[in-house]
Amino acid sequence: MRDGLSDILLDWYDRHARVMPWRVSPQDRRAGVRPDPYRVWLSEVMLQQTTVVVVRDYFHRFTSRWPTVTALAAAEVAEVMAEWAGLGYYARARNLLKCARVVMESHGGVFPGTRDGLLTLPGVGPYTASAIAAIAYDEPAVVVDGNVERVMARLFDIHTPLPAAKPILTEKAASLTPGDRPGDHAQAVMDLGATICTPRSPACGICPWREPCAARAAGTATQLPKKTPKKAKPIRQGTVYVLFRPDGAVLTETRPDTGLLGGMLAFPTTDWTEEVPAPAPPAAADWQDIGEARHTFTHFHLRLTVLAAASGADPDRGSFSDLDPKALPTLMRKVWALASAASPFVARTTTGD
Ligand code: ADE
Repeated sequence: MRDGLSDILLDWYDRHARVMPWRVSPQDRRAGVRPDPYRVWLSEVMLQQTTVVVVRDYFHRFTSRWPTVTALAAAEVAEVMAEWAGLGYYARARNLLKCARVVMESHGGVFPGTRDGLLTLPGVGPYTASAIAAIAYDEPAVVVDGNVERVMARLFDIHTPLPAAKPILTEKAASLTPGDRPGDHAQAVMDLGATICTPRSPACGICPWREPCAARAAGTATQLPKKTPKKAKPIRQGTVYVLFRPDGAVLTETRPDTGLLGGMLAFPTTDWTEEVPAPAPPAAADWQDIGEARHTFTHFHLRLTVLAAASGADPDRGSFSDLDPKALPTLMRKVWALASAASPFVARTTTGD
């Protein structure tokens, strides 16, 4: 029988670990199976700012198409951006390819085997390096994401609001990280936060840490972690132009690498600003207002007026093609939903008679 906090949690994890396509189960791990650092890295990059449910499909598509870092390093940037479309935070996708190429060119196709080595890779920050080092290499690195912060704030009944509480929560997480099975421990805390120690209604009655949990004893679990209120996001506005050629081809462009939706396929737009931006139609045409697309980015809400037109005139930017909407980021898919519904050029399946 084990009795340290981590031992209690690992016993629970042995029975309740979630099954994930990039994960080696505790049983397989014990039998000597090692996680593939490529799959762990890919999953950790995808999981930043995105839920496990959303990531699963993307992970399957990426690993079917590019099963190894060697295969990914040989991909074209446009292919990777198109596969990433819909996951958001597109700098991650560009860095993903950069990182794969650095692993090939500077590390002989093998991921560095320590946290410090991983930190030298493009797009791999302290969190990702710790997660890969712990999960793939069983290095006792301290892994702290939002789930772990919530679990620590409750286990130790810490009322300092985030983000000021981050150092103390990290210190608490470090104090629990075991020398034995640190990778399983890190994933166990994440699973506990995702399945039992949930934000709104934690299932304290079945929690393996219900006895030692200070917030449970104090009755404060649902109030934790405290957070310093965020400033309301400003609203930016702009116009997006969907131009159809009479043969049905649609005008798109690749956005500049730096900036929002960097490197992604998009319809031409004005700047996105709090004041009304200057119009920037890609061609002179009889532009019709067909609605508004709304989307929230990290730092602002965006309202885009969608204008559509049909014209054979030469545009001043972008190129015409048969559009694959799956290659568009989510905001542009919303624009396409309005434009394609309004367009006489887009075939629609008939409904009934
Ligand atoms: N969130 C980020 N990384 C994770 C992992 N390895 N397991 C579960 N949830 C996670």
